Amino acid sequence: MRLSRYFLPVLKETPREAQIVSHRLMLQAGMIKQASAGIYSWLPLGYKVLKRIEQIVHEEQARAGHMAMLMPTIQSADLWRESGRYDAYGEEMLRIKDRHDREMLFTPTAEELITDIFRAHVSSYKDLPLTMYQIQWKFRDEVRPRFGVMRGREFYMKDGYNFDLTKEDALHAYNRHLVSYLRTYERMGLQAIPMRADSGPIGGDDTHEFLVLADTGESEVFYDSEITDLKFGDRQIDYDDHAACAAVLAEFTSRYARTDETHDEALFAQVPAERQRTARGIEVGQIFYFGTKYSESMGATVQGPDGKSVPVHMGSHGIGVSRLLGAIIEASHDDKGIIWPEGVTPFHCGIVNLKQGDDEADAACLALYNGLQALGLDPLYDDRNERAGAKFGTMDLIGLPWRITVGPRGLKNGVVELTSRRTGESEELPPEEAIARIAAVYSQIA
Ligand SMILES: Nc1ncnc2c1ncn2[C@@H]1O[C@H](COP(=O)(O)OP(=O)(O)OP(=O)(O)O)[C@@H](O)[C@H]1O
Ligand SMILES: [Mg+2]
Repeated sequence: MRLSRYFLPVLKETPREAQIVSHRLMLQAGMIKQASAGIYSWLPLGYKVLKRIEQIVHEEQARAGHMAMLMPTIQSADLWRESGRYDAYGEEMLRIKDRHDREMLFTPTAEELITDIFRAHVSSYKDLPLTMYQIQWKFRDEVRPRFGVMRGREFYMKDGYNFDLTKEDALHAYNRHLVSYLRTYERMGLQAIPMRADSGPIGGDDTHEFLVLADTGESEVFYDSEITDLKFGDRQIDYDDHAACAAVLAEFTSRYARTDETHDEALFAQVPAERQRTARGIEVGQIFYFGTKYSESMGATVQGPDGKSVPVHMGSHGIGVSRLLGAIIEASHDDKGIIWPEGVTPFHCGIVNLKQGDDEADAACLALYNGLQALGLDPLYDDRNERAGAKFGTMDLIGLPWRITVGPRGLKNGVVELTSRRTGESEELPPEEAIARIAAVYSQIA
């Protein structure tokens, strides 16, 4: 993409409504525009990152054997009356009437919808286990939408649902989700810590939230500092191996880590004092096992091996896809702007032409641009007639991890400059080598 043709409405002033850095930077970098309270349009740059994050979620769900599908955003109230949640859900649910006066709602979550699909089509234990998920817009009429995409009213969420014959199998599905979530967040350059949580309106006993530590997080968290040393890394895991998945859960929940909702002072006191940490965190996902809560109320049963009909064991699992943009920026920025981790960056690198209109500089930039694209990379070429300072400012603000700077002086010596956004370090090297270096960086990430 050439910047001269791109829609990047960068803001010069600091937006006054933004209370936290991620909200401010997303507005300044022209990623989102508020449409109404807690509801945003995703401009091209923001949309690109949203799609990158979504893609990683899809890839990791596929790896775990979960099937993608899509359910509607508008649901019928009748289904929710069956589960008893229509009245229980409260004011966060956006209730709508159609022209025939039928009661509808905008989906805040989809346990009822998926259970209805399941009961219509599955009747034997032989069709289990089954896990399906969607990435779809949700609406919750939050009392206080704030912090941009972090607490929106409309937001993009991955929600997955497992159906199993036994509690043991459903707990395996729970563990499998925990493993896949650890992988998912690490690929986005995030450390998200699983913490014991409360189940809220979803119901059930077993639940963990994944929290990214950040001063601006809405949850207060308490943990043993040893938990932050744990990395999933590039271990290979067989998602059908119950013991292997259970071992990962045991490892990542072996240290004290809880949110204010489940915090237990007596247990926390048993953590050695020098390892006790109190901080704030952003919830980027949550997994639940809730047994037969929905299958019993909605009649989702299967015939077991003994011919008897039994309600299935279920769980649901969410990732805050749109909130993740805010969480990643909170975790990765400096005073000049965003610093995208390579896994989610909207463009792989920027190309800055210091002397637009200079034949040699223009040709060198174009060669870099074509060379990167030929390797399947997606560069953003700043070909505007702007001062160097303005070009650098834009690149730093939008946070591409790598920048290649091209100017007549370097070209005389056959070199361009390759700069890391994260470290600020620059190196002069021939253009072909700059391309090879960037290609090598991205070939290392999945
Ligand atoms: N209003 C929102 N705006 C953006 N993302 C959200 C919002 N509510 C929930 N999410 C994201 O969706 C994920 C799954 O939804 P879940 O039902 O667990 O949310 P929740 O526990 O009600 O969230 P919260 O406690 O933050 O209100 C959450 O972990 C979070 O990342
Ligand atoms: Mg939650």
